[in-house]
Amino acid sequence: MIALACDHSALEMKQLVKDLLDEMGLAYRDFGTDTAESCDYPVFAARAAKAVASGECDRGIVICGTGIGVSITANKVPGIRCALCSEPYSAELTRRHNDSNMLAMGARVIGPELARMIAKTWLTTPFEGGRHQRRIDLITKLEEGLPLE
Ligand code: RB5
Repeated sequence: MIALACDHSALEMKQLVKDLLDEMGLAYRDFGTDTAESCDYPVFAARAAKAVASGECDRGIVICGTGIGVSITANKVPGIRCALCSEPYSAELTRRHNDSNMLAMGARVIGPELARMIAKTWLTTPFEGGRHQRRIDLITKLEEGLPLE
């Protein structure tokens, strides 16, 4: 189950992601917003991030104008590793190396075809584990307030 959320600036891009998920046979849950009325992106990004952190959803995709606001918000939720991507190379590497469980994109930054490529790459690339797991464990330690060295 993929958690989705966006603000008023990204309704079209969220629909594009839904179409992609339908094509890929992946289920999703949409945490809003649903209208073009100006809204506060943290409310919606937090809903999606909490659903991923709780295990209700496996991963999440959040979108706002730049992608920055929703990524900052999602990364405040313990357990979330949200990667803001504007090209497929980073989308692939953040799955392989960071095991990112959320993807953020900027609807005012990238076009629809690029967004589709990024989302598809991110959804299909596996985590490599190994030395990268050790680094993720350090991020988790930091989140828990433990010393890293
Ligand atoms: C909304 O105007 C805009 O600030 C928002 O979509 C996002 O870009 C914030 O980071």
